[in-house]
Amino acid sequence: MHRPQRTYGRIKARTLKPRQAGLMETLLPHLAVPVEGEIDIDSLFAAPPEAARAPGGPGGALRDFGAGDNPGSSPEAGAVVLEIGFGGGEHLVAQAKAAPGARFIGVEPFLNGVASCLRHIEESGVANVRLHQGDAREVMARLPAASLDLCYILFPDPWPKARHHKRRLIQPAFLDELARVMKPGGEVRFATDWANYASWTLQHFTRDSRFAWTAERAEDWRRPWPGHVTTRYEAKKLGDCAPIWLRFLRS
Ligand SMILES: C[S@@+](CC[C@H](N)C(=O)[O-])C[C@H]1O[C@@H](n2cnc3c(N)ncnc32)[C@H](O)[C@@H]1O
Repeated sequence: MHRPQRTYGRIKARTLKPRQAGLMETLLPHLAVPVEGEIDIDSLFAAPPEAARAPGGPGGALRDFGAGDNPGSSPEAGAVVLEIGFGGGEHLVAQAKAAPGARFIGVEPFLNGVASCLRHIEESGVANVRLHQGDAREVMARLPAASLDLCYILFPDPWPKARHHKRRLIQPAFLDELARVMKPGGEVRFATDWANYASWTLQHFTRDSRFAWTAERAEDWRRPWPGHVTTRYEAKKLGDCAPIWLRFLRS
């Protein structure tokens, strides 16, 4: 069987703190995307999970990352949003908080990131986030066609060395799957602070007639979209350029 290239680095770092380990056991099962079979989005979001309903704290950590700094482009009620590689979940949960009627699916293979996201979910009390620990491509393969209104790919692993470019998430096969799961008119939002990954992504999307790059002037890719919430990786400024913000519409 053909195995796709691994696009991520480590899947575990330090041992989880007791509170996070507890949330993996108590909260994650209520929010988890089923591990097999076609994903029925309405069932996935049917009843808000009891364990996720009550805020467990003030949600201060989200404020550190600018939640609500720049409101104005929240997805509509019922919209389905996928965030691929949510890292620690600060962005995912802030967006979910800003758009309580929309439905957010976050996928991240890094265990400590999933545990951190659960803490943000508990602290903020959001009830519209579902999670999967693993490879987003595996989840996408089980999503119905034309099911996503919005897909975030924020600061994906850059794999800067040429011999590692094959590990980048953006590949023709990935675009095939993305084209299948996006609704007509749905939007893909991609950001990177690695110049070569920005050009790589632009080349892949602009060669593909199923997607249209929305930029009309330099400002459109130099500035984040309205409502952006700074991510943890973005704040580290590890790349070789200022962040580049690319928006593509599915035709
Ligand atoms: C550089 S980090 C950025 C994290 C976060 N988006 C941020 O900006 O803070 C890239 C993340 O993408 C995740 N990732 C890589 N390949 C993935 C895949 N195939 N599916 C889901 N997540 C993936 C990695 O585990 C990592 O946490």
